Amino acid sequence: MSKRVAILISGGGSNMVALADSMTGDHPARPCLVLSNIPDAGGLEKARAMGIPTAIVNHKSYEGRATFEAALNTVLAAARPDIICLAGFMRVLTADFTQRWAGKILNIHPSLLPKYKGLNTHARALAAGDKAAGCSVHEVTAELDGGPILGQAIVPITPDDTPETLAARILPLEHQLYPAVLRRFAGGDTLPLILP
Ligand code: GAR
Repeated sequence: MSKRVAILISGGGSNMVALADSMTGDHPARPCLVLSNIPDAGGLEKARAMGIPTAIVNHKSYEGRATFEAALNTVLAAARPDIICLAGFMRVLTADFTQRWAGKILNIHPSLLPKYKGLNTHARALAAGDKAAGCSVHEVTAELDGGPILGQAIVPITPDDTPETLAARILPLEHQLYPAVLRRFAGGDTLPLILP
């Protein structure tokens, strides 16, 4: 039986589309839900167009993280995911949530972790004078952007790079890395994958 994958987004959902597009044929998983905390996230319309069930859990409708995550848990539990992919989902998750779904949550982060957890990753890599940048897929634990790394894609930084040029070069790599890691993970393989 195929593994069921819920994908959590907050924005345009280009990684969500790459993941969903990849789950065909002999892939061991299929998308079961695209959930956004932002009601007008562009990715929701893309998911609907792909025929994937969608849900909105607007964090602004809840008093605090605990009640927001309780609502998130209710919707997720109904979708019975085997794997939850965070794909540009911009809410910090509590230890209660990550423990509830331990071993099942993946995230993509636009840096070569453990460098530059959090936000503004490309600007920070440039400010540090790094020679390379990239993206990482990791298992989600209670530590923000801190769980075991499942894959990384690396690009050289050139002298005239800006945060925008770096982001534009790395995003297509995210679209290669995340589906490749998901396919391996869904098949039980957690050995780190390095691209290219
Ligand atoms: C991606 O670059 C992803 O790595 C990043 O948000 C973007 C989402 O784009 N995620 C984070 O910064 C998580 N901390 P998308 O909505 O087009 O997939």
